[in-house]
Amino acid sequence: MTTLRLTVNIRATKQRVWEIVTHPERYPAFVRDVQDVTVLQRSQSVALARWRIRHDGVEFQWTEQCHYDVEQARITFHAVRGDFASYDGSLALEHAGPGVALTLNATMDWGLPSFGKVIAPVVEQRVRRAFTMMLVAIKRYAERHRVARTYAFVIHPLDLELIRVAFREPNIAAPRKELLSKTFEWLPPFKCSDIVGLQSLDGHEVDGALIYCPLLPEQMVANGGAMALRKTIEAINVAESLGVHIVGLGAYAAQIGRKGVLAAEAVRVPVTTGTSYTVAMAIQGIETACRAVGVPLSRLKVGIVGATGGVGSTCAELLAPRAGALVLNARNQTRLDELTVTLKARAPSVEVLPTAELDWLVANADIIITATSTPGALLDARALRPGTIVCDVSRPRNVSPQSVEDAHGSVLVFDGGVVKPPGDVDFDFCFGLPPGLAYACMAETMILALSERYEGYSIGGNISAPKVEEIARLGDALGFRLAALRWCEREVPTETVEIVREHLRNRAAVVWV
Ligand SMILES: NC(=O)c1ccc[n+]([C@@H]2O[C@H](COP(=O)([O-])OP(=O)(O)OC[C@H]3O[C@@H](n4cnc5c(N)ncnc54)[C@H](OP(=O)(O)O)[C@@H]3O)[C@@H](O)[C@H]2O)c1
Repeated sequence: MTTLRLTVNIRATKQRVWEIVTHPERYPAFVRDVQDVTVLQRSQSVALARWRIRHDGVEFQWTEQCHYDVEQARITFHAVRGDFASYDGSLALEHAGPGVALTLNATMDWGLPSFGKVIAPVVEQRVRRAFTMMLVAIKRYAERHRVARTYAFVIHPLDLELIRVAFREPNIAAPRKELLSKTFEWLPPFKCSDIVGLQSLDGHEVDGALIYCPLLPEQMVANGGAMALRKTIEAINVAESLGVHIVGLGAYAAQIGRKGVLAAEAVRVPVTTGTSYTVAMAIQGIETACRAVGVPLSRLKVGIVGATGGVGSTCAELLAPRAGALVLNARNQTRLDELTVTLKARAPSVEVLPTAELDWLVANADIIITATSTPGALLDARALRPGTIVCDVSRPRNVSPQSVEDAHGSVLVFDGGVVKPPGDVDFDFCFGLPPGLAYACMAETMILALSERYEGYSIGGNISAPKVEEIARLGDALGFRLAALRWCEREVPTETVEIVREHLRNRAAVVWV
């Protein structure tokens, strides 16, 4: 009986190595000893393959059955017939440093119980050498022609449910939150996955990585964000060690330290928050919703919750010439008044109504954009006027998901800034969107990487309407598109659009087109 455990580190993405090890029929082209692998049967999770290898002039043959566990990135195999009395084991992939670790576990029985003891040491040495050569050949093949990894994006969990889903840990429940939060404080940031398959319309490809900053939203904002800033810098350092040229910051990692400025000052790689493209996509989302319900934006009052913030104020600036009127809300009245003066100077004909009263905004706005830095539900969909459209840009969301369910389609609530990047993007990690979709802040980093614009595009207070328009143009040319309007796990149902359309039809101030 020979038992082996071999690991090789490969500087390539997990997806690329998985693609190689699940297609052993290609091995003869690059693994010296492998003469032929014929796949006799294959489904998504099982394959039957006949192997013929020749080592030092001796030929071995066997037929093995493989089980593919895509989620765990693990193949288990066992020989069903051939030259061994038994041969089974596994091949497993794990993210490790800048690449992945490929580990082979194998046990083979030669069926020679007595003589086996005599030959065991030499056979084991030979088998070890043959398998090592195979793993090294896979490594070389995977590392050849690899797409450049040019960008990374720092994420953090928005709630416990996302941790449960992302790490497939069903036992994370509310009573354990305190313990989990503490553990997160101890845990350093790490690369949680490779992002592959991003390809612009002109065929340019770049790969990226997701870096996990293990802090929940309330930990991110605790103590003025001091711990969050330290961890965000550590996360950017992890990204830098992967050799990327630009790093994007997501959700509250983008809020702390003067919106990325302090983090950027502490590292060498350029850092962006993604705010410019988020604004572009929020506005496109609103235009899409208006088209869907058939009402021109110029006839609607747009309310912005978090109006004085980076996202809110730039949305206000861009919407002022297009909307029927603006209702601005935040807690600080002085800043609201200052913003009102600025907007009136730029678009004198638009009516701008500043209010620190959220209820007043809710009672008067036809469309609401939420973009606040307060985690948690500020808006209850059941309290909105029927027919109201809400673009919730905030992460975590500001509209209670349960209340949207309970509103039974009387309001159209959608997630702001959800984008379909070009190509066949695989994040290999669940961060809250279905496969293939990205948040606009992530997409901004991707656009800059594809454009080789390695710069702190959206950082601190440097967001402006012309920059929003520029990044929207760049994204459009590369093939980035706003995703279909969706809320939480699903697309906004057509019936909701119809109901909202009907409510708006009856609203006096709205002129029907
Ligand atoms: N979907 C995406 O891709 C994406 C990308 C970037 C950002 N975001 C999200 O967008 C949101 C805003 O980001 P930002 O960079 O614009 O933040 P920001 O500059 O800090 O602005 C936050 C705004 O919210 C207001 N605010 C805070 N708490 C409030 C409350 N309880 N009621 C009313 N207003 C409140 C603040 O003013 P006062 O302090 O005066 O109230 C300020 O106007 C965040 O949730 C962020 O995670 C999403």
